[in-house]
Amino acid sequence: MEKFFSERAHRIKSSSTIGRADNVKKLIKSGVDIIRMEIGEPDFITPKIIIDAATQAMSNGLTKYTSSSGIPDLKKAIINKLESQNRINSNLGEIIVTPGAKQGIYYALATLINKGDEVLIPDPSWGSFSNIIEYLGGISVHYHCPAKNDFKINITALANLVTNRTKVILLNYPCNPTGQTISKEELIEIAKIAQAHNLLIISDETYERILFDGTVHVSIASLPNMAPRIISVFSFSKTYAMTGWRLGYVVGPKPIISKMIQIQQQTATCPTSIAQAAGVKAFEAEADVQLMLKEYTKRRTFMLTGLKECGISCLPPPGTFYLFPDISRLGSSEEVADLFLEHAKVSVVPGTAFGKQGEGHIRMHFAASMPELEKAIRNIKLACKKE
Ligand SMILES: Cc1ncc(COP(=O)(O)O)c(C=O)c1O
Repeated sequence: MEKFFSERAHRIKSSSTIGRADNVKKLIKSGVDIIRMEIGEPDFITPKIIIDAATQAMSNGLTKYTSSSGIPDLKKAIINKLESQNRINSNLGEIIVTPGAKQGIYYALATLINKGDEVLIPDPSWGSFSNIIEYLGGISVHYHCPAKNDFKINITALANLVTNRTKVILLNYPCNPTGQTISKEELIEIAKIAQAHNLLIISDETYERILFDGTVHVSIASLPNMAPRIISVFSFSKTYAMTGWRLGYVVGPKPIISKMIQIQQQTATCPTSIAQAAGVKAFEAEADVQLMLKEYTKRRTFMLTGLKECGISCLPPPGTFYLFPDISRLGSSEEVADLFLEHAKVSVVPGTAFGKQGEGHIRMHFAASMPELEKAIRNIKLACKKE
């Protein structure tokens, strides 16, 4: 059958995170008790105000196709949010609502990338970036964010990777999997590179609200004169515990957004009408967001202390709900992920799933309940002693 596959289809690989999660689900179904710390998904239930808005939308018959760019009420709410929280000024023509940030990134890259075009992406980084780029015929060129530099971008090294085939710099901050972010000063330097080489920037800000220790999130599109070359991608998934609703949005230059809307029109039509109606209310769920952030803060402290007691060092992540500890003294990333699964009954992702720079690390999240995290640390302590 594979002989019928397109070249494109051959280039796409399974998501290793989703693949691991599927295996773990099978193990759990067969009766094995596993603590799931692999897939990046809040354990919280979506705030009630959002669920009620969805129920209301269904009762009111908002169950039809919507405009391909998204419903006007949601786009207006997004414009207000972008202005007040991200300092990004936009208008209705510069917004597209998408079925998740992932789809937004796909539409943006599908709009921009020709065969052989180079996109600079972080290493380590979320696996979908390189997969989508390569599926579209582009080349993902990895800029290193090494552990010895606390996973920060080496901006000079980034500049040195630009060639005449480079079209886009892709940023993801706070970063999945490291939790590291990019400061305003660093963003200014990256902006200068984009301007000097006439590049576009796709800025994936999915984790913009999950921040710790006073970390401030600055959207690169808010820097002076930068908006015309920035495509900023946001998500409802993590901030509002809405992973299954599939809702995200993108703001960027009108010609690019218009092309993305055409792609959405011809492939998905629109995001789910009910999710969109509920999304309008999400921006009013600030009290719920604050409660989740308080809980994440508590869990992060607990996990960092617990890992330290296991003799495992870990950068305190400025953002996201991920930890990317250095497990190199226990074995390779793959070995330790397997060891944790087998002996600690804790499911994590090997760091190499996020690029070569991920070797020596594993990704685990703390979007699980405190009792689960306590059990995970107890089990990891025992597993490490066995080694
Ligand atoms: C960096 C990053 N971007 C985008 C996404 C996808 O977000 P969404 O659920 O809105 O598609 C994820 C999900 O794990 C992510 O880690």
